[in-house]
Amino acid sequence: MGKVMWKPGTFLYPIPAVMVSCGDMEKSNIITVAWTGIINTNPPMVYVSVRPTRYSYELIKASGEFVINLTNERLAYATDWCGVKTGAKVDKFKEMKLSKEKAEFVSCPMIQQSPISIECRVKEEKYLGSHTMFIAEVLAIHVKEEYIGETGAFDISKCNLIAYANGGYYTLDKKIGKFGYSVAKKKKNNSKDRILKVKEEENKRKKKERNIKKKKANKKKKEK
Ligand SMILES: Cc1cc2nc3c(=O)[nH]c(=O)nc-3n(C[C@H](O)[C@H](O)[C@H](O)COP(=O)(O)O)c2cc1C
Repeated sequence: MGKVMWKPGTFLYPIPAVMVSCGDMEKSNIITVAWTGIINTNPPMVYVSVRPTRYSYELIKASGEFVINLTNERLAYATDWCGVKTGAKVDKFKEMKLSKEKAEFVSCPMIQQSPISIECRVKEEKYLGSHTMFIAEVLAIHVKEEYIGETGAFDISKCNLIAYANGGYYTLDKKIGKFGYSVAKKKKNNSKDRILKVKEEENKRKKKERNIKKKKANKKKKEK
């Protein structure tokens, strides 16, 4: 079967659906944003695209700061709710029973229940037609301690992060590979391989012994 051509649209999935907290500890708000992503490694830069009609737009524009709070299965309901209600009318922290946590560098609160909160400072704004893209530098990342193991390694699989695709929220159930696995060399000398090799050697040795015995027996027969 071939492909059907559609008119241009924003069909680039999966993407994250994050809860962006903005304002300050007193006057704060949460807006759900799916138009977000990483745009540079060094310095670490991200963006969020927000429609100027959103209540959050003015808060972000005024302070030049926001926090990206990653969302997990437990936060899925609140993520959706904060994406359909406006902070002009409701206190989203209160209604969703979310707690504010003080950030290190920005005045906006972080969402305590989020597994990872990313402090951001706006560097550039770009109005693109429907949304304004806030390009921002990452100032700090706050990771919940429960996802960090004894060795200090961060286990992202424990966070139960969710993805957004074509109007739906999805869990990320299974890891199917890791960066570079397609070209990674197969590990030699793992225990399974070692056992097989030992068995192979043993079989060769036995075969050799059998051949020697056979030859000896034949020789004796001939001598008789
Ligand atoms: C899954 C999801 C993703 C969304 N992504 C965006 C987005 O990227 N940009 C945006 O301006 N609005 C987005 N919205 C809509 C806003 O979150 C929504 O209009 C919200 O009510 C605005 O809140 P505010 O008025 O308190 O700022 C999204 C909503 C949902 C449910």
